[in-house]
Amino acid sequence: MSGDTPTELPTEDELGQMSRDELVKLGLKMDGVELVHYEDKWPVKGTRAEKRAERTVALWFLIAALGGVAFLAAFLFWPWQYEPPTSDRHLLYSLYNPIIGITLGIAILGLGVGALLYTKKFIPDELAVQQRHDGPSAQVDQATVLAELADAGERSTLGRRSLIKKTAGLGAGVFGLGVLAVPLGGLLKNPWKDSDSSKSLWHTAWKPENGEKVYLRRHTGKFHEVELVRPEDLEAGGFETVFPFRESERNNEEALVHAIKSADGPVMLIRLRPGQPVVKRAGQEDFNYGDFYAYSKICTHLGCPTSLYEQQTGLLLCPCHQSQFDVFHYAKPRFGPATRALPQLPITVDEDGYLIARGDFIEAVGPAFWERKS
Ligand code: FES
Repeated sequence: MSGDTPTELPTEDELGQMSRDELVKLGLKMDGVELVHYEDKWPVKGTRAEKRAERTVALWFLIAALGGVAFLAAFLFWPWQYEPPTSDRHLLYSLYNPIIGITLGIAILGLGVGALLYTKKFIPDELAVQQRHDGPSAQVDQATVLAELADAGERSTLGRRSLIKKTAGLGAGVFGLGVLAVPLGGLLKNPWKDSDSSKSLWHTAWKPENGEKVYLRRHTGKFHEVELVRPEDLEAGGFETVFPFRESERNNEEALVHAIKSADGPVMLIRLRPGQPVVKRAGQEDFNYGDFYAYSKICTHLGCPTSLYEQQTGLLLCPCHQSQFDVFHYAKPRFGPATRALPQLPITVDEDGYLIARGDFIEAVGPAFWERKS
């Protein structure tokens, strides 16, 4: 700093008249910096080798831009919704994650390699030695530091390399757009376009269609195997995870897989012990069938499966953040971050003795979202 050096300081007028080179030299001198080595990478400007180096750097930035465009396109348009292995579109679906990972990786790699190559090929080699000192910056220090920064910019030769500047800007710009697309991408699609469909957040796969019965089905580990649930299958105090099934889907492998895999489908079917006192939710007094109660398995906190049932206490535990829901009290949250009860599925038994849903949930399952009222 200027205060630590014996350099004779210029007046304000002299400072204003000094060229940038003079300011740089003054700054170095005042800071006690000694330039012990300086080597311009391209002492002869405009050679073919220099132009080749410039094109190499530009190529990497261009690769970054192409990677960014490909990432954006894949993120917005690649089919990402689940397709079963039997579907022709399964391959496309299964490539979604690799494609967005690879394209984003190419964009980052292109930017990184371009920046590294630029530093290697165009930034002059210099070695400076500086004494350390304390104290605040004087006005003269600020002026000289600014001049040094501008000088460094010029020596980096970036100012006159418009091809590199343009491709670097393009690569960084497209990459930035790609990064923005991740949080904003969801806003480009209207989630309420088809609010009545079972795919909307308001409904689940239990929504009856065309008056067809929706049975409670257990998952045997084989997607194509259909096993329906009868009340006598469950012992008092027992529980089971069940999924929706419609007769029209019996030989439709794709639909059978989808019913098991759909995120809002899993339901915890619980058989309470006989005589267990239960507090039912107002308006849902007839949702149970005798001692059988069916609650959405999707935690109302952040959507993990609430799979752990403790039959003595009637508590359903979500393993993610330890929310506990009281099955003896309409699955109201007792502990943990969840604030809403698990939605209850209205069930009954049909004339053949199978447990069936009497309708869809009367509220959205899973975590809260902006448009939810409760
Ligand atoms: S997702 Fe269940 S407690 Fe957080």
